Amino acid sequence: MTQHPLNLLIVSSEAVPYAKTGGLADVAGALPLALAKLGHDVILLLPRYRCVSESSQSFQSVCRLHVPTPQGSIDTLIEEDVIPVSEGEYRVRVWTIRNDAFFDRPGLYQDWSNDYPDNLDRFSFFCRATIEVIAYLRTACRWNTHILHLHDWQTALCAVYLKTIDRDRPEVQGVHSVLTLHNVGYQGLFPGEQFDKTSLPRSLFTPAGLEYYGSVNLLKGGIIFADYVTTVSPTYAREILTPEFGFGLDGVLRNRADQLLGIPNGIDIDRWNPETDSYLPAKYSVIDRSGKRMCKQALQREFHLPESSAPLLGVIARLTSQKGLDLVETIIPRLMAMDLQLVMLGTGEPELEDKFTLLQSRYPHRMGLRIGFDEWLAHRIEGGADIFVMPSRYEPCGLSQLYSLRYGTVPVVRKTGGLADTIVPWTSKPGQAGQATGFHVEANTTEALLAVLRRAVTVYQDRSTWDHLIKAGMTTDVSWARSANKYDELFVSLVRREKRSVS
Ligand code: GLC
Repeated sequence: MTQHPLNLLIVSSEAVPYAKTGGLADVAGALPLALAKLGHDVILLLPRYRCVSESSQSFQSVCRLHVPTPQGSIDTLIEEDVIPVSEGEYRVRVWTIRNDAFFDRPGLYQDWSNDYPDNLDRFSFFCRATIEVIAYLRTACRWNTHILHLHDWQTALCAVYLKTIDRDRPEVQGVHSVLTLHNVGYQGLFPGEQFDKTSLPRSLFTPAGLEYYGSVNLLKGGIIFADYVTTVSPTYAREILTPEFGFGLDGVLRNRADQLLGIPNGIDIDRWNPETDSYLPAKYSVIDRSGKRMCKQALQREFHLPESSAPLLGVIARLTSQKGLDLVETIIPRLMAMDLQLVMLGTGEPELEDKFTLLQSRYPHRMGLRIGFDEWLAHRIEGGADIFVMPSRYEPCGLSQLYSLRYGTVPVVRKTGGLADTIVPWTSKPGQAGQATGFHVEANTTEALLAVLRRAVTVYQDRSTWDHLIKAGMTTDVSWARSANKYDELFVSLVRREKRSVS
């Protein structure tokens, strides 16, 4: 439990089970519940996309608010869904901001692969509305927002408003903003001519403000104006201070280095539990893993592969260069010469999709491929594979390697960001049995990846070492509990304005 219960307003552009395009949704769906379990009063704020309306029937209307925009005031309806936590002992309130012209669309940010041209209007509106929600909560509900927890560029403007155009409003005094960066590669960049859509004064469109080589950069604004900045692993928090990983914002981030903390993500251990997972053809636990063999056979059948005992490699990823899938593509012919099988699930860059499709047709008895995304199959790959491959060029935290640990599927990961922090690498040195949980690929090259995969396949033949790897992984604590405590410490220290260390 927390020492200091707070009112937390968590603002995200997506959260499971309401709306999801990526890992952000998993975090924004699970973290509020973990914080509520600690005793905080949590409200999660989301845009009311079409999929949100389709995901729950139980929304109740709360109020109507006037949101100031450059086109004048626009009305928005706020509706509430309540998620009970721990058998109803706690709850998280989910409030949605309605504006059908902006959000009642098939996609969250884009249709097909084109961004909506009015994304700056849409997310400026969402952020302006958030400030009105803070004011409403204080005046109508006597609920003072202690921490405004923002996620990624879509919500970054809230931090800017609090410190600039809304600074003197009595209803928003004392709110501490924390911005969490899930991927600095996505910054919310818009043409400079559109700056006025933010409602901010032109004086902020400078290099010291939201201007970025002539464009508007929302994430930059959030990093400058938030009271505190966090990201999703300690290693990524250090990496983004360098030009290689900062995507042009490393200088801005270095200015905030004293108020920047990396807190690794957890996973929802109820949804990802091989002992109860209803997607799996057989259940298993760290003590009795016989079900995992059945999961492997079922997965081989699913992909029309022979039911061999050779190691089965799994990949689940967006097919993009961030995820290093181009490296996998290059080494497939050499991998296929080894005694192993490979199954892949993902969607992404059309060129990579075509290349993998072609490769699969060349090696139909060795390689299975499903283009698309399918939650059911993702669980079955985690359950059935022996080795999980995640060669990301950069990875703020990564979630799939955590699912793999829990499912006894040994991860082979690039040593970067959250992958470096969450996987303990195997080495041939004696005395580390029982600690290692996977393999690190040091360099971002095909040769390095191939060499580590070869090593993993060799170690796989040594049943006792492999058993240690699986057991260490399956017993690693990957739940939200530890990370939620770190957020709790940070939030409480910000509110108390203590200078104590939170790392
Ligand atoms: C982004 C990052 C991923 C992280 C997730 C949740 O999708 O790319 O590494 O795990 O956000 O924080």
